[in-house]
Amino acid sequence: MYQRIAIITGASSGIGKAFLELLARDNGKLFKIPFDEIWAVARREEALCQLASSFENVRIVPLTTDLSDISGIKAIEEMLKAEEPAVGLLVNSAGMGIKGTVMEKSVSSISDTISINCSALSLLTKAVVPFMKSEDGKPGIINIASSAGFFPQPNFAVYAASKSFVISFSRAMSYEFKPLGISVTTVCPGPVRTDFQRRATEGREEDFTDWRKNFVSDPVKLAERSLKASRKGRRMLVYPFSQKLLHLASKILPTSWILCFSGNLK
Ligand SMILES: NC(=O)c1ccc[n+]([C@@H]2O[C@H](COP(=O)([O-])OP(=O)(O)OC[C@H]3O[C@@H](n4cnc5c(N)ncnc54)[C@H](OP(=O)(O)O)[C@@H]3O)[C@@H](O)[C@H]2O)c1
Repeated sequence: MYQRIAIITGASSGIGKAFLELLARDNGKLFKIPFDEIWAVARREEALCQLASSFENVRIVPLTTDLSDISGIKAIEEMLKAEEPAVGLLVNSAGMGIKGTVMEKSVSSISDTISINCSALSLLTKAVVPFMKSEDGKPGIINIASSAGFFPQPNFAVYAASKSFVISFSRAMSYEFKPLGISVTTVCPGPVRTDFQRRATEGREEDFTDWRKNFVSDPVKLAERSLKASRKGRRMLVYPFSQKLLHLASKILPTSWILCFSGNLK
């Protein structure tokens, strides 16, 4: 009998960690058949090991992997081939973005943003899908995009473009994987209270300080809503309501207005 597993990238903090904790405590609420293991992917080994030791009902397998390097994806693929588990859920939450103009930013920061947010998410999806079995419940993929992907953002251009990629890729995969019985849910949150903003500003801001501070969501609530949306087979979750308005605006406003608005965001 195969092991039934979930794989979560970005599991060491923020949204990914919230997914891991919710799954570990699920007790059959959302997933009728419990997971035997949760594979938790990130670079910080200590944070992953601490999480692994916090739960007794489910085995958390820390996979210390740098997703900016293709060898990290290959290592996960090899593990899947060796153990042949049934993957019930893949959550692609690992991501990064550094604020600043393209000319200010280093080549490595641009390249890492694209590698982690776009390449790793696509390649891991391709590696995992052959291990998702439709007869084994309803397998699902949750890809964490962002409302930043709705429109171009001067001073955060690579990140916003990478999230547009995630939205487009995930929507296309929801169609390609439908005959396989695999749902793909694209999650587009606005600002969420995690380590993201501190990292994005390279330590200059601990949290959102501008107008966005009024719209910050809680990572646990976001993960909860995302899991429910995935179980219902929903293709897209834009959360919270304020981001739905932004989504609508991005569809109807002229690009010149959008650029003027987003270029003036501080
Ligand atoms: N927070 C927000 O406001 C917000 C809004 C919209 C969308 N998002 C998206 O939500 C996702 C999760 O971000 P978060 O808010 O939870 O931020 P976070 O707390 O900074 O978490 C980012 C996660 O990605 C992992 N990661 C980063 N680089 C990695 C690499 N090279 N290899 C492997 N793992 C890597 C980090 O783990 P290690 O550092 O241990 O490697 C960490 O677990 C991201 O895709 C982000 O773009 C965030």
